[in-house]
Amino acid sequence: MGHATVLVVDDEPLIRWSLVNRLKQEGYRTLEAGTAADAISQHREGADLVLLDIGLPDADGLTVLKQIKEADPDTLVIMLTANTAVETAVNAMKHGAFHYANKPFDLDEVMMIVEKALETTQLRREVRTLRARQAQPYGPESIVGESAPIVAVRALLHRIGVSPASTVLLTGESGTGKDLAAKVIHYSGNRASRPFMNITCSALPETLLESELFGHERGAFTGADRQKRGLLESADGGTVFLDEIGEMVPLLQAKLLRFLEEKSFKRVGGSSDIKVDVRVIAATNRSLEGEVKKGHFRDDLYYRLNVMAVPLPPLRDRRDDIPLLLNHYIDSFNTEFRKKVRGISPGALAALQSYGWPGNVRELRNAVERAMLLSDGTELKEEHFPMLNAQESGFSAEVPLPAAGINLEALERSLVVQALERSGWNQTKAATLLGLNRDQIRYRIEKFKLERHPISS
Ligand SMILES: Nc1ncnc2c1ncn2[C@@H]1O[C@H](COP(=O)(O)OP(=O)(O)OP(=O)(O)O)[C@@H](O)[C@H]1O
Ligand SMILES: [Mg+2]
Repeated sequence: MGHATVLVVDDEPLIRWSLVNRLKQEGYRTLEAGTAADAISQHREGADLVLLDIGLPDADGLTVLKQIKEADPDTLVIMLTANTAVETAVNAMKHGAFHYANKPFDLDEVMMIVEKALETTQLRREVRTLRARQAQPYGPESIVGESAPIVAVRALLHRIGVSPASTVLLTGESGTGKDLAAKVIHYSGNRASRPFMNITCSALPETLLESELFGHERGAFTGADRQKRGLLESADGGTVFLDEIGEMVPLLQAKLLRFLEEKSFKRVGGSSDIKVDVRVIAATNRSLEGEVKKGHFRDDLYYRLNVMAVPLPPLRDRRDDIPLLLNHYIDSFNTEFRKKVRGISPGALAALQSYGWPGNVRELRNAVERAMLLSDGTELKEEHFPMLNAQESGFSAEVPLPAAGINLEALERSLVVQALERSGWNQTKAATLLGLNRDQIRYRIEKFKLERHPISS
């Protein structure tokens, strides 16, 4: 701690001198001030810690404390008080003073308080640096895509992040980026330096989920041998991410709603209200509206959550982003696996762009990872993406033959037409949808004499 700067504020030169002298011996840099006005301007020079006399000639020490804390909440302030002013000292602590020392004080004791205080800031700074480093991958730019829907989502997440919105609902199929979106929100705003806590509602039995979230008092239930703070308390000032909210049981839904409305809650087995400032981000890949209709989800909680809802689009609705995402993951796995893959063959790219991606971005990421492990060359090809093979895409070749029989030619023709229409008559894409190659689909186009109808104008 030797290089910290300590500002000594006292109107009595002798006290100032003895403190400064001792601090210098201990290796600290020092600044001095004899008045409140001087103290405030010296603080601007950059002091880590202030020893602040409570009885200054031109202003009350408490006023100076408040101004210092306003200018830089991280500055540590230790009040120097006269023996009689215990109440004032307590008041100072309430206003953010780290500690106080009674005059006449013992220099050794003051030095110990200074050292303790500086250790605390050091720790605080380290935590903040760690959090900032953690935050870096979660800027809005971590959401890859330039399609209209994703550009809108990116902007909305950032806007919510910097807003005071305290409740957010993220909806979207599995793998569309709900976890990522929650982090982008958290790390966009001034909650970024506070905790991001996450819990999956389906992962825990009901009673455990309740005590994880709200905490419990000692003796609240068998096995509760000591008091425990819940996530809502630990995340004060930050964010709690409630994943798979659709799985939460109704009893807990009610308790959560009460918290969202009152910003306070009781620990399990507790009787006093605990107030915290936490943003709750809930996520679901089920339709909550559907769950409400089935009577599984409280409508009042649904309406509360739905005030700020962000639907994340499935990948098949933003196909323009597929090449961008493929390149993004090729780059990142090139680094991770020390590979030199430069791109994807035109055939594979076309197939990947018309593929349905039921698992969305997660599936794409996993597909690239697998393809890169399988390939030795500099180009990824169709054979490296097994899901492009219809058999492995979950499609079953077993279709029951109706008792009355069918017209196989007509069925084939209809499927080929559908594939062509869906792909905008891109033969490669249509072929992929049917598990055929280009020659095989061309043959069928000729066989059925299919023609693209010009768009009537
Ligand atoms: N737009 C995007 N840009 C870049 N990466 C993305 C994007 N969307 C999702 N991802 C990545 O895809 C993977 C899956 O995303 P995530 O875990 O956030 O999905 P999810 O919606 O929470 O899925 P689930 O419902 O299964 O929990 C992660 O690796 C995430 O970083
Ligand atoms: Mg998720």
